[in-house]
Amino acid sequence: MTGSGLPALLLTGGSGQVGCALREAPPEGFEVVAPPRAELDLADPASVRRWVGARPWAAIINAGAWTAVDAAESHAAEAWAANALGPAALARASGEAGIPLVHLSTDYVFDGGLDRPYREDDPVGPTSVYGASKAAGELAVTALNPRHVILRTAWVFSPWGANFVRTMLRLGQARDALSVVADQHGCPTSAQDIAAGVGAVCARLSGDGAPSGVFHFAGAGETTWFGLASRVFERAAAAGRRSPALTPIASADWPTPVRRPANSRLDTTAFTRTFGRAPRPWTETADEVTDRLLASAEGEGDAA
Ligand SMILES: NC(=O)c1ccc[n+]([C@@H]2O[C@H](COP(=O)([O-])OP(=O)(O)OC[C@H]3O[C@@H](n4cnc5c(N)ncnc54)[C@H](OP(=O)(O)O)[C@@H]3O)[C@@H](O)[C@H]2O)c1
Repeated sequence: MTGSGLPALLLTGGSGQVGCALREAPPEGFEVVAPPRAELDLADPASVRRWVGARPWAAIINAGAWTAVDAAESHAAEAWAANALGPAALARASGEAGIPLVHLSTDYVFDGGLDRPYREDDPVGPTSVYGASKAAGELAVTALNPRHVILRTAWVFSPWGANFVRTMLRLGQARDALSVVADQHGCPTSAQDIAAGVGAVCARLSGDGAPSGVFHFAGAGETTWFGLASRVFERAAAAGRRSPALTPIASADWPTPVRRPANSRLDTTAFTRTFGRAPRPWTETADEVTDRLLASAEGEGDAA
């Protein structure tokens, strides 16, 4: 318990997309405590131990991560510190204290070569430093704290931070035409829906039957980046905003240091069955986030 009288959740990455969503809408019946990175640095095991031991947390939510996929290739040590060593330190400390750990992970643990949505027990095969570091984080969490829930998600967007929807709206204000990759397939997921999913996990934290393991949580339905951009600009145009001409292109025409998985789709059947809540359709959540961004100052073209 803390000042609010509610059981407290320790949240890492509180300034990120998922972290902002969890601070805006905490899991029902819990208070969220989110120390800034300067106080709880995943790359600093001593600060991790200090925070885990600070209170009798109801659970720890690890939404902190090195998420700059391309930059991770040239900053492997930093990416591994945040994505593998940090989760290991969190899992060891929380495991020893008997505190459940909810850990966010990614579709990038897969190579994207499968021709159907990935299930939890499909073999991982990361093709990037980021993906490998996240896969190592999953292993550490699994090994060091039996009371864990690992949520793999994908294509996260929100009103906060750096994400595709915000980037599209910003570019759309400035350009008449945009080329968007149309041969990568995935399930866009709003950070707010992930926060709701974390809430469903937190509702099942205590008791003998508390679920543990790896679960996929990503927006219902599927599309491509081109499909997501089209949806965003249809919404913007309906609101009377400028909408650029969109051209679908191949990944090969948009080279990046890390080759993105062609198939990022995640099968969320197990999450829905286990926690009694299905991820929302990506179309609905994309519309909501687009509306919110359009209603804010940055919808006028001021996005950072
Ligand atoms: N974004 C996606 O499309 C995506 C897709 C699949 C899975 N995921 C996973 O979902 C989770 C949340 O992602 P997100 O999009 O919310 O991330 P995000 O917006 O990039 O935010 C990352 C957060 O992690 C914090 N952080 C970075 N390094 C840290 C460190 N060494 N110690 C403590 N905190 C640190 C950042 O703090 P600062 O503000 O100080 O930098 C920030 O609060 C991550 O596990 C990510 O791997 C994301």
